[in-house]
Amino acid sequence: MSQASSWEQILDYSNRANPYPFYDDLRKTPVTRLPDGSYLVSTYAEIAALLHDPRVSSDINRNPAAAAAGAAAVGENDDDGSGDGPGMTPTFLSMDPPDHDKFRRIAMRHFGPPTTPGRVAAMEPRMTDIVTELIDNMSGRTRIDVVDDLAYPLPVTVICELLGVPPGDEQRFRVWVDVALQSTDPGLDPETQQKKRAEAGKELRAFMEELVEAHRQAPGNDLLSAMATDDGPEGRMPDEQLVSTGLLLLIAGHETTVNLISNGVLTLLRHPAELQRLRNDPDLAIPMVEELLRFEPPVHFVPFRTALDDIDIAGTTIPAGASLTLVLAAGNRDPAHVADPDHFIPDRPNNQHLGFGGGIHLCFGAPLARLEAQIALTEFATRLENPRLAADPPPYRPSPFLRGPSHLPIDIDGVASRQ
Ligand code: HEM
Repeated sequence: MSQASSWEQILDYSNRANPYPFYDDLRKTPVTRLPDGSYLVSTYAEIAALLHDPRVSSDINRNPAAAAAGAAAVGENDDDGSGDGPGMTPTFLSMDPPDHDKFRRIAMRHFGPPTTPGRVAAMEPRMTDIVTELIDNMSGRTRIDVVDDLAYPLPVTVICELLGVPPGDEQRFRVWVDVALQSTDPGLDPETQQKKRAEAGKELRAFMEELVEAHRQAPGNDLLSAMATDDGPEGRMPDEQLVSTGLLLLIAGHETTVNLISNGVLTLLRHPAELQRLRNDPDLAIPMVEELLRFEPPVHFVPFRTALDDIDIAGTTIPAGASLTLVLAAGNRDPAHVADPDHFIPDRPNNQHLGFGGGIHLCFGAPLARLEAQIALTEFATRLENPRLAADPPPYRPSPFLRGPSHLPIDIDGVASRQ
């Protein structure tokens, strides 16, 4: 099979449950030119090199593939969960240095080291309380849906509390986020689809503008209030930028973590011996979550990068101006990087992975996502009695890019109380 047709198979929904054989095929040519003139990069060393290469741009407005998809023309980059919807100011996710670095630092000032080192760690007891309550709510039931009952509500509650989004508002933005992230809905013609996404983007923006204003008037102990009121050494973000960044954190802050937790439960139920080990040794959750980010990553590829210069790599020259897609999920299973890549081995000696990307755009929320998944999986393992998959494979969400189950029904015999 040619690499171009392997890529078509990866995008095809009927392969969503197991795209990995097609990734194996892609890696036979580390750098592949597709018929539309864009390039796919699928091997670990080459992806890692390009993630760190200043000749590779994240600026969406430079990207020919984004323009062809009608994305850059409206400043739109919805599919990456950036919230950069129609007419929206791009966030630091879609910027290059020096602007990327400056806006990332301004946001990080209130989220992590060096200025606010304790923010994520301080949330651990609250995360445990949320998970405890979600699992308590399962008692008396024999069938649960891991997505609706655990994997979705945990990260959405955490990111809302962190940002200062009122609890009831989730009902409002969930629908808009679903529409804004929908990459393809076969029932709709492209124009209607574009229009629906534009409308959802507008609603999201109005929602975040209102929140930023409210937090500026009455600041709380949350990230939005801090970003809206604090003039750090590098100044404040312009309001437009603040609204886009708030949406980026809100959306990137939960969509991906949902998939990490549900992919994690699915993987553990397919590997009962590992589930049992986690029950006996909760410390195993730390390397286990890293192995999950390698083995079943929530983000399968980074699209819309642009070569700023001719780049010679793996015997190919990627010409200046070409669009690149870095296929993280293929790199994670590169046998030249890890031994026995198709096996889930939580305590493998090398658990370096591309699950959070790399280089200057390395995931901003990684410490938060890691902690949420570690707590959710440990509590799942220790409290649910005799969990079994009710469907294998489960149904998947449409996206080939943010990949995970839409529902994960499991049968249980009961719920143990928390030790
Ligand atoms: C398991 C969960 C998560 C995964 C797998 C994930 C994955 C990623 C990846 C692959 C990138 C790199 C994108 C690129 O290079 O263009 C990224 C960037 C980013 N992530 Fe995450 N993410 C997760 C959770 C989170 C959370 C919880 C937050 C917010 C609190 C977050 C916020 C961001 C932001 C703001 C960026 C852009 C960073 C930059 O451009 O400098 N992510 N994430």
